[in-house]
Amino acid sequence: MNEQRTNIEQLISTSERIGTIGSPSSTSELSLDILGTAVSKKLVGELALFKFSQDSKPHYALGQITEIQLRNIWLEDPTMRSLARQRGQVNPVSGQQDTHLDQMTISAVFSDESNRFEPSILGTVPATGTPIYLATDQILDKLLERYRDEIFYLGHVYGSTPKLPLWFKHFGTGPHGAGEAYHIGIFGKTGSGKSVLAKMILLAYARYPEMAIFVIDPQGEFSKDINEQIPMEGFPLDLRNILNRLNKNVVSISVRNLVLDRWDLFEHILAQSEFFERLAIHTMDKEKISC
Ligand SMILES: Nc1ncnc2c1ncn2[C@@H]1O[C@H](COP(=O)(O)OP(=O)(O)OP(=O)(O)O)[C@@H](O)[C@H]1O
Ligand SMILES: [Mg+2]
Repeated sequence: MNEQRTNIEQLISTSERIGTIGSPSSTSELSLDILGTAVSKKLVGELALFKFSQDSKPHYALGQITEIQLRNIWLEDPTMRSLARQRGQVNPVSGQQDTHLDQMTISAVFSDESNRFEPSILGTVPATGTPIYLATDQILDKLLERYRDEIFYLGHVYGSTPKLPLWFKHFGTGPHGAGEAYHIGIFGKTGSGKSVLAKMILLAYARYPEMAIFVIDPQGEFSKDINEQIPMEGFPLDLRNILNRLNKNVVSISVRNLVLDRWDLFEHILAQSEFFERLAIHTMDKEKISC
């Protein structure tokens, strides 16, 4: 057995076992039978992993627990149900014959290529009874060892303790490049942390000399940070200092300093505005002549 495998096996063996793969399971969603020792734990949101064999190579699959279902087939029987309604409890059925079935959605699979872990897919459904463990930072670090300098952390896995590893590749080609530009939208209610998240993603991209970042800042919140008026409450981010350390030249230009330096630019803006429409000049060619 090679050193890498011993290592990951050791890490997994020290992690908590929460259950086994149950039925029915598919490659997109697995059912887990939860161990008696883990039924009272908060499991929804937790990152879990299991080892399986595919093409005679060891594989490791990571995923999140999305739902827990409790079943007690005895209590689903109409006679038992009416007993439970009359007495409140049916001994020794109530609470004793409960089974907890979790749903787990797989998010990443790695194959063990003897000297490194390679991204792979879940191309089979592992046998029922395959043990499932809670993922830890150490296990994630080991699986993602070769990507260490590419990974960026925005925070913890939602509802869990490990840090969520994310990739923000620059838009160019070559090493660490995505080869195309990505559009990202951040949505949420007021005060939910959209601006802070946007700033953190900005820093993730700022690590690359290949990336220039242009911020349109109608509320002035980015320029305030840049001008070192960092609010101390909440989640302060010293953007200017971090960007300087990343060798980015930071320039903030106020709208007041944007000047029109050519007359055709002025004509263009006049045509785009509603000025002539308000004067009841509606046709395109008349607008052009008026400009
Ligand atoms: N991860 C975080 N940890 C701790 N505090 C945070 C975190 N993210 C945001 N905050 C704090 O929560 C408050 C609201 O955050 P932010 O301004 O980013 O929200 P927003 O969604 O952009 O709000 P708005 O809709 O008003 O623009 C700020 O004080 C911010 O510092
Ligand atoms: Mg905001």
